[in-house]
Amino acid sequence: MERSLVLIKPNAVQRDLVGTIISRLERRGLKIVATKMLQMDESLAHRHYAIHQGKAFFNELVTFITASPIIAAIFEGENAVDIIRRTMGETDPAKANPGTIRGDFAIDIGRNLIHGSDSVENAVKEIKLFFSNGEIFEYSREADKWIG
Ligand code: RTP
Ligand code: MG
Repeated sequence: MERSLVLIKPNAVQRDLVGTIISRLERRGLKIVATKMLQMDESLAHRHYAIHQGKAFFNELVTFITASPIIAAIFEGENAVDIIRRTMGETDPAKANPGTIRGDFAIDIGRNLIHGSDSVENAVKEIKLFFSNGEIFEYSREADKWIG
C-alpha cells in the first residue's frame, strides 16, 4: 500500500477548492490517513522544494507556496503516487487534460493548485517533513476499519 503527500496550494484554499480537490481524490478510491492546515515558512518551503533550488522559478515558487495557508494531507492506496499525479494532471495546467484537477481548474504553471509526490521515495521524505508518526492514522482495507 503506497502513501503520497498532497498539498492543496494557497490559491486553491483561497478559491475554496479544498473540498473539490479532496473529493476527487477520495472518489478515485484513495483513503485520506492524515491532514492539517498550516502556513509553510521559508525553511519548510526550501526543504520541500530543495530539488528546484537554483532554478529560475525557485524564488517565485517559495513566495507563492508560503503566501497563505495550505492543506497538507496523506493519501493512501495501491499506486497512490502515480494515481494522484494522473488525477492532478500535468505541471503546466495549460497542457493538462480536461478531467484532471489542473486541467479543469487552473491555467497558470505557477498557480497549479495541488502538489503530489512524484515518486514513492520522495513521498516518504515529504511525508516526514509535514507529519509525525502520531498524526497518521492506520486503515485496514481487508477489515474495512481504522486501527488503533
Ligand atoms: P509540484 O511539485 O508542486 O507537485 O509540481 P510538479 O511536480 O508537477 O512540478 P515540479 O517540476 O516539481 O515543479 C514544482 C513547481 O514549480 C513550478 N514550476 N514553474 N515556470 C516554470 O517553468 C515552472 N516549472 C515548475 C510549478 O508551480 C510546479 O508545481
Ligand atoms: Mg514536483
